[in-house]
Amino acid sequence: MKTLGYYNGKISELEEMQVPMLDRACYFGDGIYDTALACNHKVFAIDVHLDRFFDNAKLLDFNMPITKEEMKTLLLDLVNKVDDPDLFVYWQASRGTALRSHIYPEDMIANIWVMIWPKKLQDKEKTLRLVSKEDTRKRHNHIKTINLLPAVQYATNAYRSGYDESVLYRNNKVSEGSSSNISILKDGIFYTAPCDENILPGIIRKYLLQACHYHKIPVVEEAFSLEDLKNADEIIISSSTRLCLRAHELDEKPAGGKDIETFKKLQDYIFDKFYEACK
Ligand code: PDD
Repeated sequence: MKTLGYYNGKISELEEMQVPMLDRACYFGDGIYDTALACNHKVFAIDVHLDRFFDNAKLLDFNMPITKEEMKTLLLDLVNKVDDPDLFVYWQASRGTALRSHIYPEDMIANIWVMIWPKKLQDKEKTLRLVSKEDTRKRHNHIKTINLLPAVQYATNAYRSGYDESVLYRNNKVSEGSSSNISILKDGIFYTAPCDENILPGIIRKYLLQACHYHKIPVVEEAFSLEDLKNADEIIISSSTRLCLRAHELDEKPAGGKDIETFKKLQDYIFDKFYEACK
């Protein structure tokens, strides 16, 4: 297959897939998702992604029709049905199917969706242009819900103006990117916002912390300001689809580029883990 769509057991090329209008994802965005890259038909960090996915299902009181182990077997099986070995792998659960009502019955069973299509990891030498925007998203940004309208708007506006990512801030504290975590290096110290309800606890952020530990780079998990971001030695953007890249520009001014050596150590650690896992 060139692409793959899966819905509650039905499998087809993505363009041919249809989902029921009464799936609560369609009219309430009542769902959760996760996404990872596959290389050589292997999904990077699949166990950590599935831990987060099932934690999110629990936080939102979903009745999952499948266990974590079964979901892993399903995803690995689906990835092998697609011809291309390098893939974008997306999966979501919606609360269930019923006539629209804000109140959901206790016995509602979740629907499982999967979408897979070819995608190669981008060149790790690429550096990014950033723009800062006030973070007007909802609270509870730590849950990976499919209610992404504000994130979609930030990302599209940034793209149309030639930026690679929007950096979101609230009360002058940087929270995260529209679809990434943002960390900085300053005087050899790695700063990243703490895992509270303002940010998504990113899988690659977790790997960055591991990389700091491995290289004995001190870590401060505290929210930093826009001013700190401007004056950072490096600005690091991390996500499962980009892994880990640095920025060269923020709000039309040069940024970062002052501690490439330390950045490279962190980046290489993550890319090495990625390619190791895909052997
Ligand atoms: N998004 N913060 C937000 C708001 C995100 O949407 C993402 C990832 C991250 C980074 O998390 P992770 O390292 O687990 O990918 C942080 C994915 C890539 C997406 O929505 O496509």
